Amino acid sequence: MKMIVANWKMNGNFNFVNKFVKEINKVNSPYEIIVCPPIALIGEFKDFRYHRGSQNCFYEEKGAFTGETSPQLLKEIGCDYVLLGHSERRSIFHESDDLILKKRNAAIKFNLKPIVCIGEKNKDGWREIVSDQLRLFLDNHMENTIFAYEPVWSIGTGVTPTVEEIEIVFDFINSLTNGKSLLLYGGSVNANNAKQILNSRNVSGLLVGGASLKIDEFTRIIQD
Ligand code: PGA
Repeated sequence: MKMIVANWKMNGNFNFVNKFVKEINKVNSPYEIIVCPPIALIGEFKDFRYHRGSQNCFYEEKGAFTGETSPQLLKEIGCDYVLLGHSERRSIFHESDDLILKKRNAAIKFNLKPIVCIGEKNKDGWREIVSDQLRLFLDNHMENTIFAYEPVWSIGTGVTPTVEEIEIVFDFINSLTNGKSLLLYGGSVNANNAKQILNSRNVSGLLVGGASLKIDEFTRIIQD
């Protein structure tokens, strides 16, 4: 089953979640739907028929790590997935591949499915950036790791790669991972381009930012 992951980033509030859950619960989606809201809102998803995810986690179970959230606790509050190494976390919070790897390993240990985000800032040189970001992850956990290819130049810009470009990148990633990991595409996905991207070769799902905050548009994206 292909996946559609909503990344709300630091958006949404209690009122919006209630509307969102009510409307999205009416949709019989053929896809695996995962919504990643700000973690403070997760309790409001108790009647949600689809999956919940977190936008981040720490790599320790508990301890003196002020401001962090443990993967075990995320599991306890109902998350099944966790986004890791989103480009905003890499650039604003200086997350390194080493740190993201530790988080990935902890997520697997506590039974959360990790979605590791990768992608180049500038279109030129994507091969080097993508293979560099993947290097540490080419290990024995690959079957349990989902990768989201999100070219940074496409995030929030309304500009997407062509289907041909996506297929070239995904063929390349698959050649590095030996086809062991599921690959998602993210970056300016909307109701008009979602199906075409979803049907591209080797694409197992979508990571949707801005369009997941518009209930009508997200409904169109997750419908058959
Ligand atoms: P966008 O964001 O869909 O708004 O481009 C995607 C993301 O950052 O995950």
